[in-house]
Amino acid sequence: MKKMTSAEVRQAFLDYFEEMHHKRVPSSSLVPGNDPTLLFTNAGMNQFKDVFLGLDKRPYSRATTAQKCMRVSGKHNDLENVGPSPRHHTFFEMLGNFSFGDYFKRDAIRFAYDLMTKVYEIPVQRLGFTVYESDEEAYSIWTEDIGVDPRRVARLGPKTNFWQMAETGPCGPTSEIHWDLRPEEGIDAIIPALQAESDRFLELWNLVFMQFNRLQPDPDHTGQWDEPLPAPGVDTGLGLERVVSVLQDKQANYETDLFMPIIRRVQELTGQTDAVRDANIVPYRVIADHMRAATFLISDGVRPGATGRDYVCRMVIRRAVRFGTKLGFEEPFLADVADAVIDTMAVAYPELLDKREAIRRTITNEEIRFRRAMDRALDELYGMIDELRATREPSGEL
Ligand code: SER
Repeated sequence: MKKMTSAEVRQAFLDYFEEMHHKRVPSSSLVPGNDPTLLFTNAGMNQFKDVFLGLDKRPYSRATTAQKCMRVSGKHNDLENVGPSPRHHTFFEMLGNFSFGDYFKRDAIRFAYDLMTKVYEIPVQRLGFTVYESDEEAYSIWTEDIGVDPRRVARLGPKTNFWQMAETGPCGPTSEIHWDLRPEEGIDAIIPALQAESDRFLELWNLVFMQFNRLQPDPDHTGQWDEPLPAPGVDTGLGLERVVSVLQDKQANYETDLFMPIIRRVQELTGQTDAVRDANIVPYRVIADHMRAATFLISDGVRPGATGRDYVCRMVIRRAVRFGTKLGFEEPFLADVADAVIDTMAVAYPELLDKREAIRRTITNEEIRFRRAMDRALDELYGMIDELRATREPSGEL
């Protein structure tokens, strides 16, 4: 496997698809333009939704992006997994390639396979694949055209292998590429492990074969509200943090070069040793995750507030403060952590550099406001306890 920095992994993806005649399109904002079905951009295809629906035309029929995403609400929500899970984030980047009525399953699978095995040099012996249960075409492309051993290809139902952006909108069957964390369990155990969603496998890349527009919510996937798209297309999403963890041979995304500079900044501030840090890793991870989210949200114009997107921005900052108290932080510290986010991510998102001061100030103001609110709440609580003490029955216990 190639040893690569995260910047090189991102760049190699975009370069590969550019060579394959895809237009390199910048990430869209985390705030989706004009889409009431979404609170935040949650996938690379969001900015192309109307192109898939045939309502918008672009001067290109193939595109590639590294897209900023947030999954904190609605259909795709990973908030509660952040910290304890080594792989889930509120903010993350999705690498994608898209076809708008251009190529379909055969090329999508070929591109993905070649990028994984030739550019990133991931051995096929470490990969597992899934296809939608009734998708014979995708199954035979993997096993016959590409020549993957059929014992590596599992057929799964709609819960795993059917993707929809929201309750309604563009959707279709999928094929996924997974990393095998425990190849020693043998090739014959691959399909049962994929079917059981076992932690032997880590999903890396989702190839969606966009075919339908779902007009009404359809939780049982009956298909009765699915109308065919004007032209079938392809929407893929490769989780940057995950593929970097594979290529950098790390157990957790947080151990990669996308997160370690941020975690180290927190550690400089706590003064803890590596051993103490590792014994308290959950707060470190939550702070790193939430400061990435807050930094990018503020950079995209969101401000901490009481409702909707603003509330999410407030919540991630306040959660970071609360997890900071577990590490002993009593004064505002998050702006320094946001600096580490900016320094780490500016290679791909240079606009962060211009917004550094606004980001620092916004985070610190919210941190101060929250600390004051916490202090007031504590004062009230102590007041109530004192009152109870003063009025309690002589025999009562508090
Ligand atoms: N839209 C699909 C996903 O989010 C592939 O990009 O997984």
